[in-house]
Amino acid sequence: MHIDPLEKKWVLISLGMSALFVSIIMIDALFHSVNAPSNVETIDSRKIHLSKEFAEDNLGVQVADNGDITVRMVAGRYAFFPKKIILPAETKITFRWVSMDVLHGVHMPMTNMSTMIVPGYVAQVESSFPRPGEYPMLCNEYCGLGHDHMWSKAFVIDKEEWEAKRAKESAALNTTAIAKEESNNE
Ligand code: CUA
Repeated sequence: MHIDPLEKKWVLISLGMSALFVSIIMIDALFHSVNAPSNVETIDSRKIHLSKEFAEDNLGVQVADNGDITVRMVAGRYAFFPKKIILPAETKITFRWVSMDVLHGVHMPMTNMSTMIVPGYVAQVESSFPRPGEYPMLCNEYCGLGHDHMWSKAFVIDKEEWEAKRAKESAALNTTAIAKEESNNE
């Protein structure tokens, strides 16, 4: 089969470009911790509020005994709940997202956070925030008339400041617990 040399040249150039783009995506994914949209963990969307993990009290920022930070958020028309969270800078944070109604997405500009939130699945993304500041969470999947207004905010503060605030809060919780216990004993 005869192939015109010029045509051959362009075939090679286009193959080369495809290879280049695929490698850019791969390298970016490897070095900037870009994740696949979901970790294929299922959940019953109708019973999210009754589930242990995503019950109202467990939403928002949770710190495990070993210091790992997990943020659990529920997406629903038209916000991400809780509406405001406070996070430390320069810290690895695991986000777990579920939808209580339809397909949503979440995008946080200037971070690696961009995932679909498919009803029935838990979307998990690991992220960290190099600088303190206000980071909006925006819905990036059309989900209804209020889609444009679907957003919440993460406030990222200095790591030390965040730890001090947390220590203060848990101390306050302990004092109320002790006070309650004392009044019960009386
Ligand atoms: Cu939720 Cu668009």
